[in-house]
Amino acid sequence: MPSRPMIARNIPALRRALDGLRARKASVALVPTMGALHDGHVSLVRLAKRRARKVVVSLFVNPTQFAPTEDFGSYPRTWKADLARLTAEGVDLIWNPDVRVMYPDGFASRIITDGPATVGLEDRFRPHFFGGVATVVGKLFTQCRPDMAIFGEKDFQQLRVVSQMAADLDLGVKVIGSKTVRERDGLAMSSRNVYLSAEERRAAPVLFKAMKETAQRLRAGEEVQAPQASAVETITAAGFAVDYFETRHAETLQPVMSIKDGPLRILVAAKIGTTRLIDNIAV
Ligand code: PAF
Repeated sequence: MPSRPMIARNIPALRRALDGLRARKASVALVPTMGALHDGHVSLVRLAKRRARKVVVSLFVNPTQFAPTEDFGSYPRTWKADLARLTAEGVDLIWNPDVRVMYPDGFASRIITDGPATVGLEDRFRPHFFGGVATVVGKLFTQCRPDMAIFGEKDFQQLRVVSQMAADLDLGVKVIGSKTVRERDGLAMSSRNVYLSAEERRAAPVLFKAMKETAQRLRAGEEVQAPQASAVETITAAGFAVDYFETRHAETLQPVMSIKDGPLRILVAAKIGTTRLIDNIAV
């Protein structure tokens, strides 16, 4: 049976645990999470284990990336199940700070993001989001000083924003993207899938289906407009309100006309009932 990971809840305990892990110069990978772990997170941990000798997973529901109207209060918190999963995966250390440890009284700084964070995708609908993500990830990187950090491709714009920030601020952390894990019917795994009613859950794979159809048409040489419009129609007919369905350059996330402007990424965000889902695929 794998032994339980060390758990640190304040900075001195984290430093002590990391000093121990780093003995004999072992490489360290960080997997930042907000808990409510599913098989997608497990695949990040497994990639981290393949790439580094020691694996640290942070569990912290970060209030600064939620708007007051969003689900910070109700975001699923499943500590016992998360601990069991991370123990089974042989994780070395869990960094689980309290909000007051991460943001002590008087905390007054924030990382301002540009470039991939201001391309009119998630930033258009969640203007607070990337400032909050960059600030907490910047803190996680300086607190844990990992050699590398693993992020899911499911939050593709987030992956681009964090990679840009790590490079711009010379944080010395290699940011690695990990492939999206899907349910059998194509729905991308997400901690927010638990919010879906049975009927919404049945409708949800339409996002992946519409992206795949669009990718096929783009590969056949069509320009982006018509396939995107059909995809929005299909997704809307399935009961979603679409925030965006866009084909973008996979590196810069800037708008494109056709496959000739590649490499391309199709990105979607849409709401069904009260649940907002995002997903993306490569073309
Ligand atoms: O993707 C997430 O779970 C969060 O945005 C992250 C990267 C852990 C920052 O809070």
